[in-house]
Amino acid sequence: MAAARTALLPLLLLCLLLAAAPSAWAARFACNATAPRANTCQALISYSPPNGTATATLAAVRALFQLRSHRGLLAANGLPLSTPPTAPAPTPLRVRLPCLCSGGAGATFQRPTYRVRAGDTLDAIARGVFAGLVTFQDIAAANNVSDPNKVAVGQQLWIPVPCSCDPVAGQPVVHYTYVVPAGSSVAGIAQEFGTTEETILAVNKMPDAKSLLAGQVLDVPLRACGSNISNTAVDRNLLVPNGTYILTANNCVMCGCSSSTWQLDCQPTQGLSSSFCPVAKCGDMFLGNTSSTSSCETTKCSYGGYTNTTSFTILANLTTSNVCNAAGMSPTAQPAHSSAFRLEPARWRWTELVVSLHVVLLCLGYLRQD
Ligand SMILES: *[C@@H]1O[C@H](CO)[C@@H](O)[C@H](O)[C@H]1NC(C)=O
Ligand SMILES: *[C@@H]1O[C@H](CO)[C@@H](O)[C@H](O)[C@H]1NC(C)=O
Ligand SMILES: *[C@@H]1O[C@H](CO)[C@@H](O)[C@H](O)[C@H]1NC(C)=O
Ligand SMILES: *[C@@H]1O[C@H](CO)[C@@H](O)[C@H](O)[C@H]1NC(C)=O
Ligand SMILES: *[C@@H]1O[C@H](CO)[C@@H](O)[C@H](O)[C@H]1NC(C)=O
Ligand SMILES: *[C@@H]1O[C@H](CO)[C@@H](O)[C@H](O)[C@H]1NC(C)=O
Ligand SMILES: *[C@@H]1O[C@H](CO)[C@@H](O)[C@H](O)[C@H]1NC(C)=O
Ligand SMILES: *[C@@H]1O[C@H](CO)[C@@H](O)[C@H](O)[C@H]1NC(C)=O
Repeated sequence: MAAARTALLPLLLLCLLLAAAPSAWAARFACNATAPRANTCQALISYSPPNGTATATLAAVRALFQLRSHRGLLAANGLPLSTPPTAPAPTPLRVRLPCLCSGGAGATFQRPTYRVRAGDTLDAIARGVFAGLVTFQDIAAANNVSDPNKVAVGQQLWIPVPCSCDPVAGQPVVHYTYVVPAGSSVAGIAQEFGTTEETILAVNKMPDAKSLLAGQVLDVPLRACGSNISNTAVDRNLLVPNGTYILTANNCVMCGCSSSTWQLDCQPTQGLSSSFCPVAKCGDMFLGNTSSTSSCETTKCSYGGYTNTTSFTILANLTTSNVCNAAGMSPTAQPAHSSAFRLEPARWRWTELVVSLHVVLLCLGYLRQD
């Protein structure tokens, strides 16, 4: 009986938290993608160091988010591989983190974590350190902190930054967790990131563009480049949005994405030992080489993914593209995300109300049991 009571305690605390802080769920991103595999992905997070750029070097941001490699941070920001860790961080900086969907919402998986220092409050951590990517309620709920004003110095907290792995209108996208700067408009954000107003409103379940707030944590789906990666390759889910690149195949291959072609553009990473990286060829062409067969057609040795079942192999094959046709196709003329999946704001509010009601009833039930 006593054991049952103690087991109920965290639930009770959660109920109290829910009651005290309804805005805790405001910045949750829908993430329905399910296992196997589709429930995890790499998401992009925007980070503007709150105390200005003076203290924010790439190395400091890498440490804050526990990023495994400096090169990965450079790649997410489209910065040259020669950029030193002491370089100032561009604002906002893009951070690539693993995302996990669970129970219909997404949060960065296990990272970042933060060790509480003397004088910290959850709100100072949420806004002063993590630039409003999370609320103090998010941190409290994720870490079972019952009193947000009382956190122990040295306590390790998981910072659950909202993210998503869901395709948008059937297209795989990279979700960008974007803290809205003052003076922004939905139209401006849509244009900056190559998406549409309708998509942003629908994905964020916003009734209209006027409801955008400065400091709001917005889910901006970024169109990723198409590729010829085999679906048996280890990196078959590789998604690279415009303005970033990625190091794959154990860093042996570097792939970029340009919004002029929307095709993945890969080549061997310069400066890596050729004894570790297998040579990738299509016949007598090397990975990344192109040749013009006619004035309109270009043949390219394209990246096909890598495998590691018997030995580490980089796949590549020839692909032909019609540059004359491609030049006539404007990327905006064929939007990656249609507005066909627009959600009815009224219906959403209704379901939200029903869910809230159930939560309240559940909480009352538990309270009465005590
Ligand atoms: C996610 O799941 C919810 C509830 O199951 C559903 O209402 C919603 O339409 C789903 N969203 C997507 C994008 O599939
Ligand atoms: C920014 O300043 C606030 C308040 O001075 C402090 O709590 C926070 O730790 C600082 N953030 C960083 C990343 O240095
Ligand atoms: C919080 O409590 C729940 C059970 O109420 C438990 O499943 C979860 O692991 C706990 N989380 C942390 C971070 O301690
Ligand atoms: C692609 O990225 C470039 C450079 O980062 C940027 O100027 C351009 O607006 C982006 N295009 C789209 C459609 O996002
Ligand atoms: C390569 O990718 C492009 C665009 O994604 C596609 O049109 C083409 O059919 C693919 N080629 C092969 C050989 O898979
Ligand atoms: C090119 O390679 C990809 C991945 O290895 C494969 O799916 C596709 O069928 C190949 N296409 C051709 C024309 O060989
Ligand atoms: C073909 O690719 C190899 C390896 O990346 C590179 O060294 C070489 O310069 C390329 N050749 C041409 C003609 O682009
Ligand atoms: C191949 O897989 C093995 C075991 O799964 C792993 O230890 C090794 O690092 C992998 N090698 C490469 C090149 O990915």
